Amino acid sequence: KMTLKKICCIGAGYVGGPSCAVIASKCPAIQVTVVDLSEERIKQWNSDHLPLYEPGLDDVVKSCRGRNLTFSTDIDTAIQEADLIFICVNTPTKNFGIGKGRAADLKYIEAAARRIADVSKSSKIVVEKSTVPVKAAQSISNILQANVKPGVKYQVLSNPEFLAEGTAVNDVLDPDRVLIGGEKNSLGKEAIEALCWIYEHWIPREKIIVMNTWSSELSKLAANAFLAQRISSINAISAICEATGADVSEVANAIGTDSRIGSKFLKASVGFGGSCFQKDVLNLVYLCECLNLPEAAAYWQQVVDINDYQRQRFANRVVESLFNTVTDKNITILGFAFKKDTGDTRESAAIYLSKYLMDEEARLRIYDPKVEKSQILRELTHPCISEDPSRVSKLVTIHQDPYEAAEGSHALIVCTEWDEFKTLDYHKIYQKMLKPAFIFDGRIILDHEALIEIGFHVETIGKRLSRKPVHRSIAPSTQ
Ligand code: NAI
Repeated sequence: KMTLKKICCIGAGYVGGPSCAVIASKCPAIQVTVVDLSEERIKQWNSDHLPLYEPGLDDVVKSCRGRNLTFSTDIDTAIQEADLIFICVNTPTKNFGIGKGRAADLKYIEAAARRIADVSKSSKIVVEKSTVPVKAAQSISNILQANVKPGVKYQVLSNPEFLAEGTAVNDVLDPDRVLIGGEKNSLGKEAIEALCWIYEHWIPREKIIVMNTWSSELSKLAANAFLAQRISSINAISAICEATGADVSEVANAIGTDSRIGSKFLKASVGFGGSCFQKDVLNLVYLCECLNLPEAAAYWQQVVDINDYQRQRFANRVVESLFNTVTDKNITILGFAFKKDTGDTRESAAIYLSKYLMDEEARLRIYDPKVEKSQILRELTHPCISEDPSRVSKLVTIHQDPYEAAEGSHALIVCTEWDEFKTLDYHKIYQKMLKPAFIFDGRIILDHEALIEIGFHVETIGKRLSRKPVHRSIAPSTQ
């Protein structure tokens, strides 16, 4: 069996950082070097303030940084010394040219492949961990082979990452499965075995699924498309609930108990966010279009369309409830991260909601426990969100304390399901707000009856709430 002494990871982001930190902690005999073009990011990985927040990540990094885990900007040396190289660079949606708004931009992947080809003096196993369209491994392989140095051999594997932000460390420590795609010939098998050997340090062999490269690449896109599809499906149901008086949480519970459907990922909300779901569904849509499969493309496109619709629908309800105008009204936004337990704001529903409300000239008071002020302002002043960035400084204030953020507000909107929002003192918040005081629960996490009892006007996703306080004696008891 081939053993690996040194591995390198190109891309010190949300995937490269946590996944390689866990590899280093579980494989003390392997030297792991994580490299990035961004000096700032590498500096943060080497500091006490890591560039991203993930539960448990600080401990894992501290336990092996300086031992067998190194963060560096010296990309060439790390490539030269490594037996195996993970490519974990970003693959964002293209915002220009062919496939604009749908296709994945593979320029970072290609740059990484060219760098490997340029500097390698010995054979390498190159592992594509970034999410890519089907056949990207073939392109990497072509670039490597076209620039190969004498005596150097390359094997390219697909090893998509399934970690979710907010639970990244646990997901890598205890994954449902590990997927490896590679070639069926003897060199391919040898490379697959070498990568398996890394994972077998802590993952049982039966959880490692080996398949052909294209299936592996497609499986990642398919998995994210299915997950996003479940959210859009329940959100489409939530619209029916609001129009009829059915309760989406009850419906989700009813269908989720069917073992063929399963209960996870059936929570209606203001819409999914994050850097992956929309990007990967669009990536799949574009793939279908390129393969001349317009019906399949249209099917998956609907998953993204329903998500846009859900965010817009929720924003419309906020405006409608506030007597059809939010101009100059103070609106408190609780949560800016795209989900709880992460500081990541990429494609967060809060961004779009803020945009719609800023378009109506509402004044936003934003609080998030983990997102830095500069990050929120960067998102809101992005040209896709604000045509005139100076309006952001006029309309938006960022707060360090939720009670302060609620001061003098007409309405409060829960955009992220942070646990701490469930236990805020809503009596205190009610007192600080203008009346009538509105709460819009975009994540269905609050105790609506208790809030109504305090005096709030409460609106949530997928359920009509009564306007008047419910009297315990006549309400069917749910406690
Ligand atoms: P990220 O943007 O956080 O990190 C990518 C890093 O790669 C950046 O720090 C960038 O500076 C660096 N980079 C880009 N080109 C480089 C080059 N040529 N040489 C050296 N460094 C370079 O991205 P993230 O979130 O880690 O995602 C990476 C890939 O993993 C994407 O394809 C994504 O779809 C996929 N993925 C992401 C997940 C997530 O939850 N964020 C989960 C599973 C897969």
